[in-house]
Amino acid sequence: MAPAATEPGGGATWAQRPRGVPAAVPAPGVPLSFLGASALGLIATGVAWFVVAARAAHDVTADPVVAAVHLGVLATLAMGLLGALHQFVPVITGRPLRSTGAGYASCALWIAASWMLPLGIGLSAPAVTGLGGASAGIAVLVVSWNLWPALRVSGKGPAVTAMRWSLAGAVLTTYLGVAFVGDRQASWFALSARVDLAMGVLGMFTWLGTAYVGVASKLWPMFLLAHLESRARSVRASVWLVPVGAVVLAAGLIAALPVLADSGAVVLAAGLAAHLWALGAHVRRRRRARDLHLVFVLTSAASLLGGVALALGAAAIESAHPRAGRDLVAGAMALLGGWLLVAVVGHAHKVVPFIAWSLLRARGVIANPRGQALGFADLYSARWARVSYLTITGGVAALGLGLALASPPLTRLAGILLASTGAVVGVNLALGPWRVAHAAPVAAAASGSPDPAPTR
Ligand code: HEM
Repeated sequence: MAPAATEPGGGATWAQRPRGVPAAVPAPGVPLSFLGASALGLIATGVAWFVVAARAAHDVTADPVVAAVHLGVLATLAMGLLGALHQFVPVITGRPLRSTGAGYASCALWIAASWMLPLGIGLSAPAVTGLGGASAGIAVLVVSWNLWPALRVSGKGPAVTAMRWSLAGAVLTTYLGVAFVGDRQASWFALSARVDLAMGVLGMFTWLGTAYVGVASKLWPMFLLAHLESRARSVRASVWLVPVGAVVLAAGLIAALPVLADSGAVVLAAGLAAHLWALGAHVRRRRRARDLHLVFVLTSAASLLGGVALALGAAAIESAHPRAGRDLVAGAMALLGGWLLVAVVGHAHKVVPFIAWSLLRARGVIANPRGQALGFADLYSARWARVSYLTITGGVAALGLGLALASPPLTRLAGILLASTGAVVGVNLALGPWRVAHAAPVAAAASGSPDPAPTR
């Protein structure tokens, strides 16, 4: 665990950060703990889909299936995106986390929540579900307390707007979830499928989707070398329309007001279109040659389009064929989750080496095992990164199709591919820095040494 410091003005920064790393950056252990836990969550998600495949083909709303859904959205996606927020909110705003300890505490609480809640639902253990719900409720409060001073900064552009919305979405979704958990224990209300879907919309778009939309607006220019005007209209539109559209759609579903739900869906669709438009502009203006990151990002966008197509298909056939419509909604949710999952896996191959590089430099490791300047490419295997691309893309496609077509073999295949991705990505991104740390000649302390430019 890297030591943290408390700034005189309040807030926790990384005391040993090497030269060139922004002053507000958190201790690397905080984002890395979230991201490592997210890889474990992906393994659990894959195992869960493998186990519940036959049940999902029979009834996508069965409890074991709800458990697999929540391992995916909470233990994998939310875990990874919360890690990204803990890294990027301080960097983008220039203001540190309030407390490093609270960063670790929220990671531990979120691990407890995101594993206990699904296990409790899947194994019909209400006490475990209740503990999971309580941990989730406390975790989002700790995260909000820790990030809020940084998010109050003004004039830092649309990415900060997106992160504020995302945090609000996290609180809304989690407390709706806490109410669902309470209902499971004490039958507070009759929970309809519409209200269940409202949770999916709030969680997927207002919380997780908006976090990605905001983080991507900062990462695409850097990783694609494409400098769009920082407040481009498409970016500004997406960070408002996606969360607002999702909130209105969810409200329409909860209140059973089709006009409100339809208006929300239109606004949400406009926001997603603006997000894709911004991606297109970055891709057209990029100065970096086509690489695996670009392929990940484009595949993630294709999954979003696939999810929207299945959702439209579901709306078209739902009244005539309710069962097929429900399966299509499940397939759509899987592909929409795939939009974020493929993006998280792709960006992890850039962000984790970046953090690990800083950590190694802070420990005085400035050369790779061949004695050349340490670069990001030394910190993971490009071949295994390509394998991860194939497994995650195959896993997301198989899950979307498996649920939409109610096909247990496809859903089982998805489980194997998703679990393999979690294992491959976790080992690849952890082993690279470990190898360098144990093989490289240890040079002078970073503070006194020149900063070699990363090779990539
Ligand atoms: C990104 C976040 C989330 C998403 C996308 C999401 C999605 C969903 C969906 C789609 C369902 C309906 C499943 C079905 O009936 O087939 C559902 C149910 C449920 N969710 Fe979530 N969820 C999220 C977060 C949470 C959180 C944070 C909690 C708890 C604190 C929670 C607790 C529950 C519970 C208990 C149910 C079952 C409700 C019932 O008894 O039918 N969810 N969720």
